[in-house]
Amino acid sequence: MKVDVLLGLQWGDEGKGKVVDFLTPRYDVIARFQGGPNAGHTLEFEGHKYVLRSIPSGIFQGDKLNIIGNGVVLDPALFKAEAEDFEASGIPMKQRLHISRKAHLILPTHRLLDAAYEKAKGASKVGTTGKGIGPAYTDKTSRNGLRVGDLERDFDTLYAKAKERHLGILRGLLNESEWDAAMKDLAEKEKVWMEGVSYLRQFTFTDSEHEINRLLDEGKSMLCEGAQGTMLDVDFGSYPFVTSSNTVCAGACSGLGVAPNRIGRVYGIMKAYCTRVGGGPFPTELFDEDGEKLTSIGHEYGAVTGRRRRCGWIDLVALRYAIMINGVTDLIMMKSDVLDTFETIKACVAYEIDGRETDEFPYSVETGVKPIYCEIPGWKCDLSQMTSEDEFPEEFNNYISFLEEELSVPIRIVSVGPDREQTIERYLD
Ligand code: GDP
Ligand code: IMO
Ligand code: MG
Repeated sequence: MKVDVLLGLQWGDEGKGKVVDFLTPRYDVIARFQGGPNAGHTLEFEGHKYVLRSIPSGIFQGDKLNIIGNGVVLDPALFKAEAEDFEASGIPMKQRLHISRKAHLILPTHRLLDAAYEKAKGASKVGTTGKGIGPAYTDKTSRNGLRVGDLERDFDTLYAKAKERHLGILRGLLNESEWDAAMKDLAEKEKVWMEGVSYLRQFTFTDSEHEINRLLDEGKSMLCEGAQGTMLDVDFGSYPFVTSSNTVCAGACSGLGVAPNRIGRVYGIMKAYCTRVGGGPFPTELFDEDGEKLTSIGHEYGAVTGRRRRCGWIDLVALRYAIMINGVTDLIMMKSDVLDTFETIKACVAYEIDGRETDEFPYSVETGVKPIYCEIPGWKCDLSQMTSEDEFPEEFNNYISFLEEELSVPIRIVSVGPDREQTIERYLD
Protein backbone atom coordinates (compact mmCIF):
# COMPACT_ATOMS: atom_id res chain seq x y z
CA MET A 1 0.00 0.00 0.00
CA LYS A 2 1.21 3.45 -0.84
CA VAL A 3 -0.87 5.59 1.50
CA ASP A 4 -0.34 5.57 5.25
CA VAL A 5 -2.24 7.68 7.76
CA LEU A 6 -0.95 9.11 11.05
CA LEU A 7 -3.55 10.43 13.46
CA GLY A 8 -4.14 11.28 17.12
CA LEU A 9 -5.99 8.80 19.33
CA GLN A 10 -6.70 11.12 22.27
CA TRP A 11 -7.82 14.76 22.54
CA GLY A 12 -5.07 16.20 20.31
CA ASP A 13 -1.48 17.31 20.97
CA GLU A 14 -0.23 13.75 21.07
CA GLY A 15 2.95 14.72 19.18
CA LYS A 16 1.77 14.17 15.60
CA GLY A 17 4.02 16.86 14.10
CA LYS A 18 7.17 15.39 15.61
CA VAL A 19 6.50 11.90 14.24
CA VAL A 20 5.33 13.05 10.79
CA ASP A 21 8.65 14.91 10.49
CA PHE A 22 10.50 11.77 11.66
CA LEU A 23 8.73 9.55 9.10
CA THR A 24 8.89 12.03 6.19
CA PRO A 25 12.10 10.60 4.60
CA ARG A 26 10.13 7.39 3.87
CA TYR A 27 7.45 9.11 1.76
CA ASP A 28 7.22 11.22 -1.39
CA VAL A 29 4.18 13.27 -0.38
CA ILE A 30 2.95 14.54 2.99
CA ALA A 31 -0.65 15.80 3.14
CA ARG A 32 -2.93 17.43 5.68
CA PHE A 33 -6.53 16.25 5.29
CA GLN A 34 -8.63 18.15 7.83
CA GLY A 35 -8.63 20.85 10.48
CA GLY A 36 -6.99 24.22 10.13
CA PRO A 37 -5.00 26.65 12.24
CA ASN A 38 -6.61 25.23 15.39
CA ALA A 39 -3.76 22.73 15.08
CA GLY A 40 -0.34 23.42 16.53
CA HIS A 41 2.20 20.76 15.60
CA THR A 42 5.60 21.16 17.24
CA LEU A 43 8.88 19.98 15.71
CA GLU A 44 12.30 20.19 17.29
CA PHE A 45 15.58 19.44 15.54
CA GLU A 46 19.12 20.82 15.33
CA GLY A 47 18.44 23.17 18.22
CA HIS A 48 15.39 24.80 16.57
CA LYS A 49 11.72 24.60 17.46
CA TYR A 50 8.94 25.13 14.92
CA VAL A 51 5.17 25.18 15.32
CA LEU A 52 3.08 24.31 12.25
CA ARG A 53 -0.55 25.30 12.01
CA SER A 54 -1.82 24.64 8.48
CA ILE A 55 1.34 23.53 6.73
CA PRO A 56 2.12 19.79 6.74
CA SER A 57 4.98 18.66 8.98
CA GLY A 58 6.90 17.25 6.00
CA ILE A 59 7.99 20.71 4.90
CA PHE A 60 11.46 20.61 6.47
CA GLN A 61 12.84 17.37 5.07
CA GLY A 62 14.29 17.76 1.58
CA ASP A 63 12.25 18.00 -1.54
CA LYS A 64 9.06 16.29 -0.54
CA LEU A 65 5.79 17.51 -1.93
CA ASN A 66 3.50 18.81 0.81
CA ILE A 67 -0.22 19.17 0.14
CA ILE A 68 -2.96 21.04 1.96
CA GLY A 69 -5.96 18.89 1.04
CA ASN A 70 -9.58 19.71 0.27
CA GLY A 71 -10.68 18.76 3.80
CA VAL A 72 -8.62 21.55 5.40
CA VAL A 73 -9.94 25.02 6.26
CA LEU A 74 -7.36 27.71 5.56
CA ASP A 75 -6.99 31.21 6.99
CA PRO A 76 -4.88 33.24 4.52
CA ALA A 77 -3.73 35.69 7.23
CA LEU A 78 -2.46 32.97 9.55
CA PHE A 79 -1.08 31.02 6.60
CA LYS A 80 0.97 34.03 5.52
CA ALA A 81 2.37 34.56 9.01
CA GLU A 82 3.32 30.88 9.22
CA ALA A 83 4.75 30.43 5.72
CA GLU A 84 6.69 33.70 5.55
CA ASP A 85 8.62 32.76 8.68
CA PHE A 86 9.75 29.52 7.08
CA GLU A 87 10.58 31.22 3.79
CA ALA A 88 12.74 33.68 5.72
CA SER A 89 14.68 30.75 7.14
CA GLY A 90 15.38 29.48 3.63
CA ILE A 91 12.70 26.87 3.04
CA PRO A 92 11.42 27.02 -0.56
CA MET A 93 7.77 27.02 0.46
CA LYS A 94 6.34 27.82 -2.97
CA GLN A 95 8.10 24.83 -4.54
CA ARG A 96 7.32 22.38 -1.77
CA LEU A 97 3.70 23.19 -1.04
CA HIS A 98 0.56 22.73 -3.15
CA ILE A 99 -2.90 23.74 -2.01
CA SER A 100 -6.21 22.16 -2.99
CA ARG A 101 -8.64 24.40 -4.85
CA LYS A 102 -11.38 22.72 -2.85
CA ALA A 103 -9.99 23.67 0.58
CA HIS A 104 -12.36 26.12 2.28
CA LEU A 105 -11.33 29.59 3.41
CA ILE A 106 -11.71 30.90 6.94
CA LEU A 107 -12.93 34.50 6.68
CA PRO A 108 -12.35 37.20 9.33
CA THR A 109 -16.09 37.09 10.07
CA HIS A 110 -15.82 33.34 10.84
CA ARG A 111 -13.57 34.24 13.74
CA LEU A 112 -16.04 36.83 15.00
CA LEU A 113 -18.82 34.25 14.74
CA ASP A 114 -16.71 31.67 16.61
CA ALA A 115 -16.29 34.13 19.50
CA ALA A 116 -19.98 35.13 19.47
CA TYR A 117 -21.22 31.52 19.48
CA GLU A 118 -18.89 30.66 22.34
CA LYS A 119 -20.09 33.65 24.35
CA ALA A 120 -23.72 32.69 23.73
CA LYS A 121 -23.05 29.21 25.12
CA GLY A 122 -21.94 30.68 28.45
CA ALA A 123 -20.73 28.09 30.94
CA SER A 124 -21.21 25.26 28.46
CA LYS A 125 -18.83 26.80 25.91
CA VAL A 126 -16.64 24.40 23.95
CA GLY A 127 -13.44 26.30 24.67
CA THR A 128 -12.53 26.54 20.99
CA THR A 129 -9.22 27.88 19.75
CA GLY A 130 -11.10 30.93 18.44
CA LYS A 131 -9.81 30.43 14.90
CA GLY A 132 -13.22 30.31 13.20
CA ILE A 133 -13.09 26.57 12.60
CA GLY A 134 -16.71 25.74 13.48
CA PRO A 135 -18.27 28.58 11.43
CA ALA A 136 -16.05 27.81 8.41
CA TYR A 137 -17.05 24.13 8.40
CA THR A 138 -20.67 25.14 8.99
CA ASP A 139 -20.55 27.23 5.82
CA LYS A 140 -19.02 24.30 3.98
CA THR A 141 -21.83 21.90 4.91
CA SER A 142 -24.56 24.50 4.46
CA ARG A 143 -23.15 25.17 0.97
CA ASN A 144 -22.21 28.77 1.64
CA GLY A 145 -18.45 28.44 1.84
CA LEU A 146 -15.71 30.18 -0.11
CA ARG A 147 -12.96 27.97 -1.44
CA VAL A 148 -9.35 28.51 -2.46
CA GLY A 149 -10.44 27.95 -6.08
CA ASP A 150 -12.74 30.98 -5.78
CA LEU A 151 -9.60 33.14 -5.68
CA GLU A 152 -9.33 32.35 -9.40
CA ARG A 153 -12.90 33.55 -10.02
CA ASP A 154 -14.87 36.68 -9.17
CA PHE A 155 -13.59 36.59 -5.62
CA ASP A 156 -14.47 40.13 -4.50
CA THR A 157 -18.17 39.64 -5.19
CA LEU A 158 -18.23 36.23 -3.50
CA TYR A 159 -16.38 37.62 -0.48
CA ALA A 160 -18.72 40.61 -0.12
CA LYS A 161 -21.75 38.31 -0.23
CA ALA A 162 -20.36 35.95 2.40
CA LYS A 163 -19.37 38.84 4.66
CA GLU A 164 -22.83 40.37 4.38
CA ARG A 165 -24.43 37.09 5.37
CA HIS A 166 -22.13 36.71 8.39
CA LEU A 167 -22.80 40.26 9.56
CA GLY A 168 -26.52 39.54 9.43
CA ILE A 169 -26.03 36.61 11.82
CA LEU A 170 -23.69 38.58 14.08
CA ARG A 171 -26.23 41.40 14.40
CA GLY A 172 -28.54 39.00 16.18
CA LEU A 173 -25.86 37.72 18.55
CA LEU A 174 -24.22 40.92 19.75
CA ASN A 175 -25.41 43.92 21.74
CA GLU A 176 -24.60 47.49 20.62
CA SER A 177 -21.23 47.83 22.31
CA GLU A 178 -20.17 44.32 21.33
CA TRP A 179 -21.16 45.08 17.75
CA ASP A 180 -19.11 48.30 17.69
CA ALA A 181 -16.07 46.51 19.09
CA ALA A 182 -16.52 43.66 16.61
CA MET A 183 -16.71 46.05 13.64
CA LYS A 184 -13.51 47.79 14.75
CA ASP A 185 -11.84 44.42 15.16
CA LEU A 186 -13.12 43.34 11.74
CA ALA A 187 -11.62 46.34 9.97
CA GLU A 188 -8.19 45.43 11.33
CA LYS A 189 -8.57 41.71 10.72
CA GLU A 190 -9.81 42.26 7.17
CA LYS A 191 -6.75 44.31 6.21
CA VAL A 192 -4.35 41.59 7.37
CA TRP A 193 -6.57 38.93 5.80
CA MET A 194 -6.53 40.60 2.38
CA GLU A 195 -2.72 40.79 2.55
CA GLY A 196 -2.86 37.08 3.29
CA VAL A 197 -5.01 36.51 0.22
CA SER A 198 -2.47 38.30 -2.00
CA TYR A 199 0.29 36.17 -0.53
CA LEU A 200 -1.71 32.96 -0.91
CA ARG A 201 -2.22 33.70 -4.62
CA GLN A 202 1.52 33.19 -5.16
CA PHE A 203 1.18 29.48 -4.33
CA THR A 204 0.24 26.62 -6.64
CA PHE A 205 -3.44 25.67 -6.40
CA THR A 206 -4.24 22.21 -7.68
CA ASP A 207 -7.09 19.77 -8.10
CA SER A 208 -5.25 17.81 -5.47
CA GLU A 209 -7.42 14.69 -5.68
CA HIS A 210 -6.24 14.26 -9.29
CA GLU A 211 -2.68 15.17 -8.45
CA ILE A 212 -2.53 12.72 -5.55
CA ASN A 213 -4.06 9.80 -7.45
CA ARG A 214 -1.77 10.43 -10.41
CA LEU A 215 1.27 10.38 -8.12
CA LEU A 216 0.07 7.19 -6.44
CA ASP A 217 -0.47 5.54 -9.84
CA GLU A 218 3.12 6.44 -10.68
CA GLY A 219 4.23 4.49 -7.61
CA LYS A 220 4.76 7.41 -5.25
CA SER A 221 3.94 7.08 -1.54
CA MET A 222 2.05 9.44 0.73
CA LEU A 223 1.72 10.02 4.47
CA CYS A 224 -1.52 11.69 5.58
CA GLU A 225 -1.12 13.88 8.66
CA GLY A 226 -4.09 14.14 10.98
CA ALA A 227 -4.83 17.15 13.14
CA GLN A 228 -6.62 17.17 16.51
CA GLY A 229 -7.46 13.67 17.76
CA THR A 230 -10.09 10.94 17.56
CA MET A 231 -11.83 12.05 20.76
CA LEU A 232 -12.34 15.48 19.12
CA ASP A 233 -13.93 13.97 15.98
CA VAL A 234 -17.27 15.59 15.14
CA ASP A 235 -19.01 12.19 14.89
CA PHE A 236 -17.15 9.96 17.33
CA GLY A 237 -15.63 12.37 19.85
CA SER A 238 -17.08 13.69 23.10
CA TYR A 239 -19.77 15.72 21.28
CA PRO A 240 -20.51 18.63 21.54
CA PHE A 241 -17.06 19.24 23.00
CA VAL A 242 -15.33 18.43 19.74
CA THR A 243 -13.90 20.13 16.70
CA SER A 244 -15.88 20.40 13.46
CA SER A 245 -14.13 17.91 11.19
CA ASN A 246 -13.63 14.17 10.89
CA THR A 247 -10.30 13.62 12.55
CA VAL A 248 -10.55 9.84 12.11
CA CYS A 249 -9.00 7.73 9.35
CA ALA A 250 -12.05 8.09 7.11
CA GLY A 251 -11.29 11.83 7.09
CA ALA A 252 -8.12 11.09 5.11
CA CYS A 253 -10.24 9.57 2.32
CA SER A 254 -12.75 12.41 2.17
CA GLY A 255 -10.20 15.12 2.90
CA LEU A 256 -7.80 14.12 0.12
CA GLY A 257 -9.81 12.10 -2.38
CA VAL A 258 -8.03 8.85 -1.58
CA ALA A 259 -9.98 5.60 -1.89
CA PRO A 260 -10.09 3.46 1.28
CA ASN A 261 -8.43 0.51 -0.46
CA ARG A 262 -5.31 2.60 -1.05
CA ILE A 263 -4.67 2.87 2.68
CA GLY A 264 -2.04 0.63 4.25
CA ARG A 265 -0.75 1.45 7.70
CA VAL A 266 -2.72 3.51 10.16
CA TYR A 267 -0.38 4.96 12.76
CA GLY A 268 -2.26 5.79 15.95
CA ILE A 269 -0.40 8.18 18.19
CA MET A 270 -0.92 8.59 21.93
CA LYS A 271 0.83 10.06 24.93
CA ALA A 272 1.99 7.68 27.69
CA TYR A 273 -0.63 9.55 29.74
CA CYS A 274 -3.46 11.82 28.54
CA THR A 275 -4.21 15.52 28.08
CA ARG A 276 -7.07 17.69 26.91
CA VAL A 277 -7.35 21.43 26.29
CA GLY A 278 -10.68 23.28 26.31
CA GLY A 279 -13.96 22.12 27.80
CA GLY A 280 -15.63 18.74 27.89
CA PRO A 281 -15.50 15.42 29.70
CA PHE A 282 -12.19 13.79 30.59
CA PRO A 283 -12.76 10.67 32.70
CA THR A 284 -9.16 10.20 33.89
CA GLU A 285 -8.44 13.89 34.60
CA LEU A 286 -6.29 14.45 37.68
CA PHE A 287 -6.79 17.35 40.07
CA ASP A 288 -4.02 16.34 42.47
CA GLU A 289 -0.24 16.51 42.72
CA ASP A 290 0.20 13.88 40.03
CA GLY A 291 -1.78 16.07 37.63
CA GLU A 292 0.39 19.07 38.53
CA LYS A 293 3.49 16.99 37.96
CA LEU A 294 2.35 15.87 34.51
CA THR A 295 1.59 19.50 33.56
CA SER A 296 4.93 20.84 34.71
CA ILE A 297 7.23 18.01 33.58
CA GLY A 298 5.33 17.61 30.29
CA HIS A 299 5.18 21.40 29.70
CA GLU A 300 1.51 20.91 28.98
CA TYR A 301 0.57 24.30 27.61
CA GLY A 302 -1.13 24.66 24.21
CA ALA A 303 1.02 25.36 21.15
CA VAL A 304 -1.73 27.62 19.70
CA THR A 305 -3.46 29.37 22.57
CA GLY A 306 -0.94 28.86 25.38
CA ARG A 307 -3.77 27.46 27.51
CA ARG A 308 -2.88 25.00 30.25
CA ARG A 309 -3.70 21.48 29.17
CA ARG A 310 -5.68 19.33 31.56
CA CYS A 311 -3.72 16.19 32.46
CA GLY A 312 -4.65 12.67 33.53
CA TRP A 313 -3.70 9.00 33.34
CA ILE A 314 -3.84 7.02 30.13
CA ASP A 315 -7.40 5.95 29.27
CA LEU A 316 -7.47 2.50 27.66
CA VAL A 317 -11.26 2.54 27.24
CA ALA A 318 -11.05 5.63 25.03
CA LEU A 319 -7.94 4.28 23.28
CA ARG A 320 -9.56 0.93 22.41
CA TYR A 321 -12.49 2.87 20.98
CA ALA A 322 -10.17 5.08 18.92
CA ILE A 323 -8.22 2.05 17.66
CA MET A 324 -11.48 0.41 16.60
CA ILE A 325 -12.81 3.45 14.72
CA ASN A 326 -9.52 4.06 12.90
CA GLY A 327 -8.35 0.51 12.23
CA VAL A 328 -5.00 1.33 13.82
CA THR A 329 -2.22 -1.04 12.70
CA ASP A 330 0.69 0.53 14.59
CA LEU A 331 0.83 2.46 17.83
CA ILE A 332 3.23 5.27 18.62
CA MET A 333 3.76 6.23 22.26
CA MET A 334 4.93 9.76 23.03
CA LYS A 335 6.27 11.60 26.05
CA SER A 336 7.27 8.41 27.89
CA ASP A 337 10.04 10.43 29.58
CA VAL A 338 7.43 12.57 31.36
CA LEU A 339 6.63 9.55 33.57
CA ASP A 340 10.30 8.96 34.52
CA THR A 341 9.97 10.06 38.14
CA PHE A 342 6.64 8.44 39.02
CA GLU A 343 6.75 5.70 41.66
CA THR A 344 3.54 4.19 40.28
CA ILE A 345 1.73 4.72 37.00
CA LYS A 346 -1.99 4.22 36.59
CA ALA A 347 -3.91 3.11 33.52
CA CYS A 348 -7.69 3.21 33.26
CA VAL A 349 -8.82 -0.25 32.10
CA ALA A 350 -12.61 0.16 32.46
CA TYR A 351 -15.29 2.67 33.54
CA GLU A 352 -17.85 2.31 36.28
CA ILE A 353 -21.12 3.94 35.23
CA ASP A 354 -24.17 3.82 37.54
CA GLY A 355 -22.56 0.99 39.51
CA ARG A 356 -21.94 -1.09 36.37
CA GLU A 357 -18.54 -1.81 34.90
CA THR A 358 -17.96 -1.31 31.18
CA ASP A 359 -14.98 -1.36 28.88
CA GLU A 360 -16.92 0.23 26.01
CA PHE A 361 -16.74 3.98 25.46
CA PRO A 362 -20.31 5.15 26.13
CA TYR A 363 -22.60 7.64 24.36
CA SER A 364 -22.02 10.23 27.02
CA VAL A 365 -19.21 10.47 29.53
CA GLU A 366 -20.30 13.77 30.97
CA THR A 367 -21.42 12.65 34.39
CA GLY A 368 -20.92 9.79 36.74
CA VAL A 369 -18.10 7.99 34.98
CA LYS A 370 -15.60 6.53 37.42
CA PRO A 371 -12.35 5.23 35.97
CA ILE A 372 -11.15 1.83 37.19
CA TYR A 373 -7.37 1.77 37.36
CA CYS A 374 -4.65 -0.80 37.12
CA GLU A 375 -1.35 0.19 38.78
CA ILE A 376 2.00 -0.38 37.14
CA PRO A 377 5.37 0.18 38.90
CA GLY A 378 7.34 3.15 37.51
CA TRP A 379 10.87 2.83 36.11
CA LYS A 380 12.41 5.71 38.04
CA CYS A 381 15.21 6.48 35.62
CA ASP A 382 15.94 8.89 32.77
CA LEU A 383 14.66 7.60 29.42
CA SER A 384 15.44 10.78 27.53
CA GLN A 385 19.06 9.89 26.68
CA MET A 386 18.27 6.39 25.47
CA THR A 387 18.73 5.65 21.79
CA SER A 388 17.64 2.02 21.46
CA GLU A 389 15.06 -0.24 23.00
CA ASP A 390 17.89 -2.46 24.31
CA GLU A 391 18.52 0.25 26.91
CA PHE A 392 14.96 0.30 28.26
CA PRO A 393 14.62 -0.67 31.93
CA GLU A 394 12.52 -3.74 32.74
CA GLU A 395 9.68 -1.71 34.27
CA PHE A 396 9.33 0.39 31.11
CA ASN A 397 9.30 -2.75 28.97
CA ASN A 398 6.58 -4.06 31.28
CA TYR A 399 4.52 -0.88 30.76
CA ILE A 400 4.87 -1.27 26.98
CA SER A 401 3.87 -4.96 27.10
CA PHE A 402 0.92 -4.18 29.36
CA LEU A 403 -0.37 -1.53 26.93
CA GLU A 404 0.17 -3.77 23.89
CA GLU A 405 -1.77 -6.55 25.54
CA GLU A 406 -4.62 -4.26 26.61
CA LEU A 407 -4.82 -2.55 23.21
CA SER A 408 -4.00 -5.56 20.97
CA VAL A 409 -1.82 -3.42 18.68
CA PRO A 410 2.01 -3.28 18.68
CA ILE A 411 3.79 -0.11 19.81
CA ARG A 412 6.11 0.55 16.88
CA ILE A 413 7.71 3.84 17.93
CA VAL A 414 8.50 5.21 21.39
CA SER A 415 9.33 8.87 21.92
CA VAL A 416 11.51 9.88 24.87
CA GLY A 417 11.86 13.64 24.33
CA PRO A 418 10.78 16.47 22.02
CA ASP A 419 13.78 16.30 19.68
CA ARG A 420 13.70 14.41 16.36
CA GLU A 421 16.63 12.33 17.66
CA GLN A 422 14.72 11.24 20.75
CA THR A 423 12.64 8.77 18.77
CA ILE A 424 13.15 5.03 19.12
CA GLU A 425 11.83 2.48 16.65
CA ARG A 426 11.08 -0.97 17.94
CA TYR A 427 11.74 -3.82 15.55
CA LEU A 428 8.89 -6.14 16.23
CA ASP A 429 8.79 -8.34 13.14
P1 GDP B 1 0.67 17.71 17.99
O1 GDP B 1 -0.34 18.79 17.93
O2 GDP B 1 0.06 16.34 18.07
O3 GDP B 1 1.71 17.78 16.92
O4 GDP B 1 1.43 17.91 19.38
P2 GDP B 1 1.92 19.32 20.00
O5 GDP B 1 3.11 19.79 19.27
O6 GDP B 1 0.78 20.26 20.16
O7 GDP B 1 2.27 18.87 21.48
C1 GDP B 1 3.24 17.93 21.75
C2 GDP B 1 4.31 18.61 22.65
O8 GDP B 1 5.12 17.61 23.24
C3 GDP B 1 5.27 19.49 21.88
O9 GDP B 1 5.66 20.55 22.71
C4 GDP B 1 6.44 18.58 21.58
O10 GDP B 1 7.66 19.28 21.40
C5 GDP B 1 6.48 17.74 22.83
N1 GDP B 1 6.94 16.36 22.66
C6 GDP B 1 6.73 15.51 21.63
N2 GDP B 1 7.22 14.30 21.92
C7 GDP B 1 7.76 14.37 23.15
C8 GDP B 1 8.38 13.43 24.02
O11 GDP B 1 8.54 12.26 23.72
N3 GDP B 1 8.78 13.89 25.26
C9 GDP B 1 8.60 15.17 25.65
N4 GDP B 1 9.01 15.52 26.87
N5 GDP B 1 8.00 16.09 24.86
C10 GDP B 1 7.58 15.69 23.63
P1 IMO C 1 -3.62 19.57 17.33
O1 IMO C 1 -3.67 19.27 15.84
C1 IMO C 1 -5.83 19.98 21.06
C2 IMO C 1 -9.89 21.60 20.75
C3 IMO C 1 -10.17 22.96 21.36
C4 IMO C 1 -11.62 22.79 21.73
C5 IMO C 1 -12.17 21.97 20.58
C6 IMO C 1 -12.86 22.77 19.47
O2 IMO C 1 -2.53 20.50 17.70
O3 IMO C 1 -3.63 18.30 18.10
P2 IMO C 1 -11.97 24.34 17.53
O4 IMO C 1 -11.11 25.56 17.57
O5 IMO C 1 -11.41 23.22 16.72
O6 IMO C 1 -13.38 24.64 17.16
O7 IMO C 1 -12.03 23.83 19.07
O8 IMO C 1 -11.08 21.26 20.04
N1 IMO C 1 -8.78 21.55 19.78
C7 IMO C 1 -7.59 21.01 20.03
N2 IMO C 1 -7.09 20.47 21.15
N3 IMO C 1 -5.11 19.98 19.92
C8 IMO C 1 -5.60 20.49 18.78
O9 IMO C 1 -4.98 20.40 17.59
C9 IMO C 1 -6.89 21.08 18.81
N4 IMO C 1 -7.67 21.68 17.88
C10 IMO C 1 -8.83 21.95 18.48
O10 IMO C 1 -9.36 23.20 22.47
O11 IMO C 1 -11.74 22.03 22.91
MG1 MG D 1 -0.96 20.50 18.99
